[in-house]
Amino acid sequence: MNVISSPLHLIERARSVIDISTLLSRNPRQGGFYPRDFDVDPHTGFFPPQPLPPLPRNFSIWEKALEEAPEVLCLAENESEEALAKRPLGEKWRKTVQSWPVLDTTRLRDNIRSLQKAHMVLAFLLHYYAHSIQKPSKDASILIPRSISVPLVAVSRELGIAPVLTFADTVLWNWEFVNPQESLSVNNIRYVNLLSGSETEQAFYVVSAAVELKGVEMLQIIEGFMNLPNTSELSAVTKIKDDLLRLKKIVDELTDIFQSVRETVDPTEFYWLCRPWWSGSESKPNSQPTWIFEDVPDYAKLDLSGPSAGQSTVMHALDVFLDIDHKLVHHHRQPAPSDNNKKADRGFMERMRRYMPGKHREYLTRVGAVPCSVRAVANLNPGLREPYNGAVDALKRLRDIHIRIACIYVVTKTNSTPPPQAGIVSCHGQGPEDGRARGTGGNQVSSLLKAGRDATNRAKLPAV
Ligand code: HEM
Repeated sequence: MNVISSPLHLIERARSVIDISTLLSRNPRQGGFYPRDFDVDPHTGFFPPQPLPPLPRNFSIWEKALEEAPEVLCLAENESEEALAKRPLGEKWRKTVQSWPVLDTTRLRDNIRSLQKAHMVLAFLLHYYAHSIQKPSKDASILIPRSISVPLVAVSRELGIAPVLTFADTVLWNWEFVNPQESLSVNNIRYVNLLSGSETEQAFYVVSAAVELKGVEMLQIIEGFMNLPNTSELSAVTKIKDDLLRLKKIVDELTDIFQSVRETVDPTEFYWLCRPWWSGSESKPNSQPTWIFEDVPDYAKLDLSGPSAGQSTVMHALDVFLDIDHKLVHHHRQPAPSDNNKKADRGFMERMRRYMPGKHREYLTRVGAVPCSVRAVANLNPGLREPYNGAVDALKRLRDIHIRIACIYVVTKTNSTPPPQAGIVSCHGQGPEDGRARGTGGNQVSSLLKAGRDATNRAKLPAV
């Protein structure tokens, strides 16, 4: 369909013109927008500016067990000689964890960095525990001991984040400086806890960190827009134009960073050595989740999907700022969604927000609640359309590249043979039941990612 002459676009434009002039005349842009209110640092964004400090001394059993875990634990399906030799040690480690008292986390409440550290340590322990244990069958349940489940749920509630390993635990909170005299940058960061212990896992976190740190420049643009007193003034329009042009360049650089995974992240190791550790509790409709959190009432309602870069607040911020409609609620946008787009999981992005720290989720809510979005402003100002569309196009290209990456690292690996170092003797039951590749969160990867790419494309404004 020719989007330029589409009557639906004209209607959409006319509507937004009416809505927006009403909004502007009410001057709703009052009260400042301060990223610090959302635990967002001006220089490091969603990263804390310093590595998280150790926990108070009476929680040191957790930190010691985490330090010991890589020495004594292997994935349950690993039957290599080394893994078999470790099994009694792993058994002992899990027994010790079971015997721990349930530590009271109330005293951590007043310090967000301690809560984050506790979440990270406990969530890593959870994944080490759950994925190292031998199960009679793939679907058998595992009892997560109260010494992990109770404090993990408690600190998660304080932070407003899911009680499972998340992007924040693996990427935002799990690093140390290479050189503590220098500031945080992608060249001065080293990841501490690696479930698989592989270079690939380290490299994947580093690439994700590079995206987060580059993304800080986008957060500055968003802040500038949110704090404009009046978007109809000429000076504001000029600033928005410059910022959109800058945003396009930043997104192009993000695309280069995404592509760089090909140099450092090995697809076979990624799929066979890292992903099994990351996966969360399987939950099928109408059946028990595989992880049962001891002494946690309503454990079946917990969000337990496991980490995904889909939980990166910086990437969501870009979507929210540009007003990308993942849920397909704006029916006038063109081209209309395909049948596959409609069938894809429209709630995925929103669900992923539950795996973000609550304050970061609030940041997104606040940016999304701006009375007059940058898309709406561009719709009103013909001179802004091209810069806006340029930024959207750049994000669409990023998603095209991301789809290719997911295809190489996940989709085509689904039916591949595990490498010897995975120690998997029988491949039975490894692949998804319907033979189609699924993501960390159990989604059909290709259609999910393509739907996101198409939703991005649909945000573009028709030429006037
Ligand atoms: C080896 C590299 C990568 C692979 C194989 C990969 C794979 C995937 C897969 C399979 C999904 C579907 C959802 C899920 O399974 O959780 C996904 C979603 C997502 N990933 Fe990646 N990813 C990679 C790198 C990255 C990086 C570096 C980022 C940047 C933070 C990122 C950001 C996202 C986002 C934001 C989503 C949500 C869907 C979307 O926005 O289109 N990914 N990825």
